[in-house]
Amino acid sequence: MATPDPLHVPVLLQEVLDNLPVPAAGRVLDLTLGLGGHAEAILARCDAGTRYLGVDRDPRARARAEARLGHDARLAILGGTYEDIWDDAGFQGWMRTEAPDGLDAVLMDLGVSSLQLKDPDRGFSFQAEGPLDMRMDPEAGVTALEWLSEQTDATLADALYGYGEERASRPIARAILRSLQAGTLNTTLDLAAAVYTVLPREIARRKKQIDPATRTFQAIRIAVNGELDRLARAITQAALSLKPGGRLGVISFHSLEDRIAKQTLRRLAGIYDGPGRSAPEPLPRKLRLIHAGGLKASEAEAGANPPSRSARLRIGERLEDIQSSRTTP
Ligand SMILES: C[S@@+](CC[C@H](N)C(=O)[O-])C[C@H]1O[C@@H](n2cnc3c(N)ncnc32)[C@H](O)[C@@H]1O
Repeated sequence: MATPDPLHVPVLLQEVLDNLPVPAAGRVLDLTLGLGGHAEAILARCDAGTRYLGVDRDPRARARAEARLGHDARLAILGGTYEDIWDDAGFQGWMRTEAPDGLDAVLMDLGVSSLQLKDPDRGFSFQAEGPLDMRMDPEAGVTALEWLSEQTDATLADALYGYGEERASRPIARAILRSLQAGTLNTTLDLAAAVYTVLPREIARRKKQIDPATRTFQAIRIAVNGELDRLARAITQAALSLKPGGRLGVISFHSLEDRIAKQTLRRLAGIYDGPGRSAPEPLPRKLRLIHAGGLKASEAEAGANPPSRSARLRIGERLEDIQSSRTTP
């Protein structure tokens, strides 16, 4: 029976169900299990022979998914990242025993879940007081505060610009590091306050613009979690783990992620986007693109679930190794 988790509503759910069909006794890999929203809906459509492996780097998300779906013997849950899970012994064992011929569907629903965003203790939100943490796996890596203390004006400005597309990156970087040196940068609200000294919140509110701290928080979160570092490789590995006819769906939430998803899928479809007229060497054609521009939330979904407004689903279908690629509308 469906048990919606009020903390996170899965985005583009219907589009995922329609475009990642799972055949009888299908094999599904969910690389961002989160609270299991997509998993629950996909499993509800699948038969008893289905096997579904859910991976997430966040132990709290896994615990929540386990409480919600752990009764379903078709589901296995593993801790790890989609960059490194391929070398994990448990993962390799599951692939060997359950999916020796490859996978029918792989889902990557990138970014953070509402569980993470809404919990002030995780430090992702500029709307509530919390520690400057922002780690998706609170047991690994450095906190946002530790990461900030390793930055210079130049490296921080680069990160704010590169990962947040923040045009005021330089003065904001200086304001943040000034606050750090003065000993007044301890919480999420302190970080937001440093941004507001450069981009006043009141002006943004009057102009009905997004909160000026949004891009800075996004950039620091991406840097702390290394979110874009090896995304292209993970997407490639996911695509290559499909059996012919199997499909990969990647949901991104901002233009940086989407650019990587788009370029990687296009490259795997043998489409050359580099400089010049043709690729210096023939590109492998491993995928066929489905809905070349990707799918976006309907107006109804965007109204009911605001995080879905920025989501885009891109889909590729695995080809037999010798086939050529074509795009369908
Ligand atoms: C948008 S949520 C997924 C929500 C899920 N589809 C659902 O319906 O409940 C993204 C999840 O991906 C996880 N995540 C982010 N980066 C990851 C990575 N590199 N490897 C594994 N999990 C990751 C986060 O911890 C988060 O739980």
